[in-house]
Amino acid sequence: MKLLVCGGAGFIGSNFVRLRMRDHGDAVTVLDKLTYAGREENLADVAEHDGFRFVRGGIEDAEAVADAIEGADAIVNFAAETHVDRSIAEPDAFIRTHAMGTFVLLEAARERGLRYVQVSTDEVYGSIEEGSFSEGSPLAPSSPYSASKAGADLLVGSYHHTFGLEALICRGSNNYGPYQYPEKLIPLMVLNALHGDPLPVYGDGMQVRNWIFVEDFARGIGHVLEHGAPGEAYNVGGPDEAANIHVVRRILELTGAAESLIEHVTDRPGHDRRYSLGSEKVRALGWEPQVRFGDGLERTVAWYRDTAWWWEPIRSGDYRAYYERQYGRALGGRLETLD
Ligand code: NAD
Ligand code: TYD
Repeated sequence: MKLLVCGGAGFIGSNFVRLRMRDHGDAVTVLDKLTYAGREENLADVAEHDGFRFVRGGIEDAEAVADAIEGADAIVNFAAETHVDRSIAEPDAFIRTHAMGTFVLLEAARERGLRYVQVSTDEVYGSIEEGSFSEGSPLAPSSPYSASKAGADLLVGSYHHTFGLEALICRGSNNYGPYQYPEKLIPLMVLNALHGDPLPVYGDGMQVRNWIFVEDFARGIGHVLEHGAPGEAYNVGGPDEAANIHVVRRILELTGAAESLIEHVTDRPGHDRRYSLGSEKVRALGWEPQVRFGDGLERTVAWYRDTAWWWEPIRSGDYRAYYERQYGRALGGRLETLD
C-alpha cells in the first residue's frame, strides 16, 4: 500500500511508519510541520529506505497536502497538538490543526476517493469513574485538546455520512514507549529520575490512565486501516490501567532513583480523573494488545537510558524554557546518575 502519513515525525506516527515499512512493505510519504514535537530524528532509521518520502508542511496547507498526497492509496492522520497542559496555556494551534487541518485533509481525500483514518483519543469521551467507554458513549471532552479532537472526529463522521468518504476513526488510550516527547508523564518522569531532578506529580497522583504500548497502538491503527468498516470508530485501549503515583513509583524502582524525588505539585485545571476504553469492537476484527504494562515500562525505561543521543538535544534546547514555565523551576540536568 502507498500511504500518506500526516504527523509521521511525532511519537506514534514514527512508530507506525517504522512498523508499516518493515512488516508490511508499504511505501510512505510523511507530511509533517515539524513543530517542537515533530523531529526528523524519529525517522532516521527509515529515511534511507526505498519508498520513503518526507514533505515538510502543515495539514492545514492545501498546497503542501496536494504535493504530499501524490500517488497515495490512503491517508492516516496523526498530525495534532497533543499536550493537554499546552492546550490550557495556548489553545490556538490546537484549534487550527484539529479543525482546519482535518478539514483540508478530508477535502483532499474526497476529491481523490481515498480511504482515510483519523487517529483520535479516549479523551474525547471525558472522564469515567467506573466501567469503560464504548464507541457509542457520548462525547464529553474536558480540555481544549480533547474538545478540538472531538470536533475533528465529528467532521470525519460527517464526510462519511454526507459524501460517502471511506473514513474511519481509531481512538487510542494513553500511549507510552520509545520516541515520546518528554513533556508527557512517562518520559518526563524517566528522564527526571535518571538526572536526579524532582518528579512533579499533579495533585494526589490517583488519576488513572489506561496504558497502551505504542507498537500495539500502531498495529491497531494498521488493522483498522486494512479491516475496519467505513464510517465506524474503533476504540484501541491498552491491557492495563494504573494510577499515576504507582507508575511514578515503578519508574523510581526501575531507575534506582530516590523516593524523595517525588513532589506533589498544583493539580492541572479540569484534570480528568480516569480514562478507560472498552476495545471489544477492534478485538472482533482480530487485533489484540501484546505488551503488558510491566514489560512495556521496563522496555521504555531501557530505551531512554540507552538512547541519550535522542533526548540530549531536547533537554538542552527550547524545552528548558517550557519546563521552567510549566513547573516554575529550572531543570537540574545533573548527569551523574546515568553512570
Ligand atoms: P506528537 O505530539 O508526538 O506528534 C504530533 C506530530 O504532528 C508531530 O510530528 C508534529 O510536528 C505534527 N504536527 C502538529 N501539527 C501539525 C500540522 N498542523 N500539520 C502537520 N503536522 C503537524 O503526538 P503523538 O503522541 O504521536 O500523537 C499522535 C496522534 O495520536 C494525535 O492525533 C493524538 O491526538 C493521538 N493520540 C495520542 C495519544 C498519546 O498518548 N500520545 C493517545 C491517543 C491518541
Ligand atoms: P499526560 O502524559 O500529559 O497525558 P494525558 O493528560 O493526555 O492523560 O499525563 C498523564 C497523567 O499524568 C495525567 O493524569 C496528568 C499526569 N501528569 C503529572 O502528574 N505530572 C506531569 O508532570 C505530567 C506531564 C502529567
